[in-house]
Amino acid sequence: MKISYEQLKKISQDYGNSFYTFDTEQLKVNIETFTKSFTQRYPKVEIAYSYKTNYIPYVLEIIDSLEIAPEVVSEMEYDLATSIGANLQEIIYNGPVKNRASLSKAIINQSRINIDSLDELNLIVEVLAETQVNCLEVGIRCNFNANGATVSRFGIDVKSQEFEKAIQMIKDNKVLKLSGLHCHLPDRDLDSVEWRTNQLLETALKTFKNAPKFLDFGGGFFGNDFATPREDAVSFVDYARVITNLVKSAYPSPDDQPWIILEPGTALVANTMNYWTRVVAVKKIESRPIAVVDGSIHELSPNGRQSRNPTFHVQLDPSTDTPSEPWHVVGYTCIEDDYLSKNYLSQISKDDFLGYSHVGSYNIVMKPPFIRPASAVLELDRNGEVLNVIREAQTTGNIFSGFRNER
Ligand SMILES: Cc1ncc(COP(=O)(O)O)c(C=O)c1O
Repeated sequence: MKISYEQLKKISQDYGNSFYTFDTEQLKVNIETFTKSFTQRYPKVEIAYSYKTNYIPYVLEIIDSLEIAPEVVSEMEYDLATSIGANLQEIIYNGPVKNRASLSKAIINQSRINIDSLDELNLIVEVLAETQVNCLEVGIRCNFNANGATVSRFGIDVKSQEFEKAIQMIKDNKVLKLSGLHCHLPDRDLDSVEWRTNQLLETALKTFKNAPKFLDFGGGFFGNDFATPREDAVSFVDYARVITNLVKSAYPSPDDQPWIILEPGTALVANTMNYWTRVVAVKKIESRPIAVVDGSIHELSPNGRQSRNPTFHVQLDPSTDTPSEPWHVVGYTCIEDDYLSKNYLSQISKDDFLGYSHVGSYNIVMKPPFIRPASAVLELDRNGEVLNVIREAQTTGNIFSGFRNER
């Protein structure tokens, strides 16, 4: 889709000088290609979408309509899955802190809980005893540390007595049934994926006589393209080849194979959103040209630190097209480091628009209410007109409604 200056100007008049755009078709393509890469190689594959990566309800409803299960890590996310009408039994409930109220809901609904600690297991047993539920399948999040740099803090250490104790506690409980194992690591390289797959398989072979019902390999997959190409990119097909081959060699009999569960977040949503922001001032500091935009690094980079070149530059006056000097693009906050771009070779003028692609993963959910509320999220049609307002721009009221002044 090509968007004109006039269209961006009109949108900014209606929704503010910074806004996100979302692309439903791209989301559908991502889901289809990711899923197919695995199902073409192995019949029992289930995809669960990681809500924390981007929990815009509009996006979740599309994902739900494509029969992708929710993967949630808090009561807020659990309730969100409920409110969009997801199948409650299919919810995968992960995370290191599950409060009693949310566990109670998950148990009554027979959602799939992956246990993160012995204390959590004790709480589950306690809550379970207060219900009429007579069979609850659970998984354990496994911690396998020893893969070099990343020492994960999540799950139960498979080499510890706590792990054995958890298995025994589940066996001894008449209602609980251990149906599978889970892991997740943030590293997206193929070696790491191969390592965790082997670790989970090794643990499963030791823990279960036959194949478990499921092995959940978590998320941590690159999307299939990037704002700037990366040498370390891994294709969906390569992830699928490594995971399914290892599972098939551990469980060769088609009659005794686990379901492979995958929990992608980034791989499905990263390239579904762009961030647009308007230049409100240009100036020179020590002869370096600076464009001040009505946006901020906090809307562009989840950790508020990674500056990069814009993907799109839509100019008020396209005749000023010749790249001239390296520009810095800076935001509205009072933080010295609020640089959206550094040394961007171009010719920027006041009122130009800059667009940054690949902002669908963690950007929306990690924008702090720092200095300003968050921008609107829009869906445009093929002609660049607003089709849907997915989120209104946040208001001051949204941010301050919970604060009280009474003394
Ligand atoms: C348990 C779990 N599953 C899935 C994901 C999604 O990861 P990604 O966005 O890297 O695919 C995460 C992210 O932290 C996670 O913790």
